[in-house]
Amino acid sequence: MTQTYSEPRASYAPSDDFAAQANGTVELYRQAEDDRLEFWSQQADRLAWATPFTEVLDWSNAPFAKWFVGGRLNVAYNCVDRHVEAGNGDRVAIHWVGEPVDDARSITYAELQDEVCRAANALTDLGVVAGDRVAIYMPMVPEAIVAMLACARLGAMHSVVFAGFSASALRARIEDAQTKVVVTTDGQYRRGQAVPLKPAVDDAVAGLGETNPVEHVLVVRRTGIDTPWTEGRDLWWDEVVDSASTEHTPDAFDAEQPLFLLYTSGTTGKPKGIVHTSGGYLTQASYTHHYVFDLKPERDVYWCTADIGWVTGHSYIVYGPLSNGATQVVYEGTPASPDEHRHFQIIEKYGVTIYYTAPTLVRTFMKWGREIAFAHDLSSLRLLGSVGEPINPEAWRWYRLVFGGDATPIVDTWWQTETGAAMIAPLPGVTACKPGSAMGALPGISAKIVDDDGNQLEPGTEHGEQPSGYLVLDKPWPAMLRGIWGDPERFKETYWSRFAEQGWYFAGDGARYGHDGEIWVLGRIDDVMNVSGHRISTAEVESALVGHAGVAEAAVVGASDESTGQAICAFVILKAHHTDLSHEQMVEELRAEVAKEISPIAKPREIHVVPELPKTRSGKIMRRLLRDVAEGRELGDTSTLMDPGVFEAIRAAR
Ligand code: PRX
Repeated sequence: MTQTYSEPRASYAPSDDFAAQANGTVELYRQAEDDRLEFWSQQADRLAWATPFTEVLDWSNAPFAKWFVGGRLNVAYNCVDRHVEAGNGDRVAIHWVGEPVDDARSITYAELQDEVCRAANALTDLGVVAGDRVAIYMPMVPEAIVAMLACARLGAMHSVVFAGFSASALRARIEDAQTKVVVTTDGQYRRGQAVPLKPAVDDAVAGLGETNPVEHVLVVRRTGIDTPWTEGRDLWWDEVVDSASTEHTPDAFDAEQPLFLLYTSGTTGKPKGIVHTSGGYLTQASYTHHYVFDLKPERDVYWCTADIGWVTGHSYIVYGPLSNGATQVVYEGTPASPDEHRHFQIIEKYGVTIYYTAPTLVRTFMKWGREIAFAHDLSSLRLLGSVGEPINPEAWRWYRLVFGGDATPIVDTWWQTETGAAMIAPLPGVTACKPGSAMGALPGISAKIVDDDGNQLEPGTEHGEQPSGYLVLDKPWPAMLRGIWGDPERFKETYWSRFAEQGWYFAGDGARYGHDGEIWVLGRIDDVMNVSGHRISTAEVESALVGHAGVAEAAVVGASDESTGQAICAFVILKAHHTDLSHEQMVEELRAEVAKEISPIAKPREIHVVPELPKTRSGKIMRRLLRDVAEGRELGDTSTLMDPGVFEAIRAAR
């Protein structure tokens, strides 16, 4: 299949065909506008409540919200049992694809119900009761999702810890949450190799000494490799779960029953345990998944490429899709296992219709070249999604062309671990999208861009400077975090103190309005540079750099500079086929490109051509470390780096 770029457009309206069948309509915005709480009450009715709520929102003790007051429900029942009761037990819930080729299994809703009931019974036998915390430290195997749902069914909180984290990171999370049980696997597949995982749990727990809260470690046999064992404490999943009963009656819990804890890094070294609760969280996860992804559960095959260790996996692999009765692909491995064709083969084999990924992966695919994608039939795809960082327009257009046959809508979804579910995103079928913009707040959500004093900024003009400001959420929303585990003061200080007078949540992001009033998220405020008094976002400069045909990836940091306050330092990876220019020539071209795309004031002081960028295991570029390099300092903490060796290569390149 060959394909050529159509002229890049400034804006992409939905096709008439897509609009005609879309779940979302303009009417939805109007309904939410007319009566926001009534709107949310209707969205909550998507769920099955054992006891109806009597009040939509209690905000009397702000910023501690209560949504759907008096309502009672069981989250796991909503995600599993009710679909079986509705006659959809034979529908596939999960097409699981293991990393080893040909390792796959499809699980129906009826089978999922049996598994979740067994696991809930097994956890009950281990002494887990409502309110307890359970750590889940697992690769992307079906049992990880089953364990999450079993906790939800019991009213216990799960704390999923990404399986790429170290033993000490796991220990800190076990300690903070005082988790009673850890669910893990013997090992996991990493690029074709079986590597141990359980020993990290042993290490984490051993380091807790006498204060160890862990009574049991439940181990899924994934790889069959030798596993150290502590008799009495450790149990095999297939011995205790497989033999448990498939009968389990779910209790109904209060809408504000804590559902999970998820740790995320803040400005200090100590990770924050973000607390989410049941009714509001599930309502917004379900609502956004239905409208933003235009889900048709009877026919769509949905695939979110995130890991359950992050919030995207929680809301858009587990709770959103399953509450909507979706059929989805869950893939265990990395995109290059065994080779770069893997994602495209999976899309082709399962007829994936909705694909949701991160810009960093889109840029990786770009680096590999479009021929790989074009070797496959991707015509089943009808909607694409993006999350995690601003997507540069060049990547957006490439994604739409190469994955979407230059036809599919792309939903760029802005949200955070703290917001629980998507907040700013287009509605496919309604919104004309500008590549790189997450567009506007979803119906029922309210967001503003304001200056230091809280005054709302004006929409930008077509020509000339568009000011940037702080992105705030000025009204409470159902999936909002309910606090930081064990630290209400830090919760208030971190999110609610910047605009305390107005009572707004400050998201930590900078943003600006485009000339149609759409929102352009520029990235974390700490990634915004100040060069000679001009505010310039690292993301904007990066976007300009990767807009150059020879650049595969770019990271930009502000390094302190005597004369200008901060100076822009860029690190770029060049595309393989672009080596005909010398590095010096390339650097000059790139400086000119940035001047052209943004302004001469945004020209980087330095551009370094490097072979790799330092990334966390979740794929985020660690700008803090690049700042250290740019400023010639000793490197700070590198423990969350995917590949600590990357710095030698960067230093050598300088
Ligand atoms: O800076 C924003 C960026 O990711 C941050 C939240 O990160 P995390 O809690 O790890 O959650 C990521 C997945 C929801 C935000 O403060 N971010 C996320 N999505 C976007 C984004 N920036 C721009 N556009 C997005 N679509």
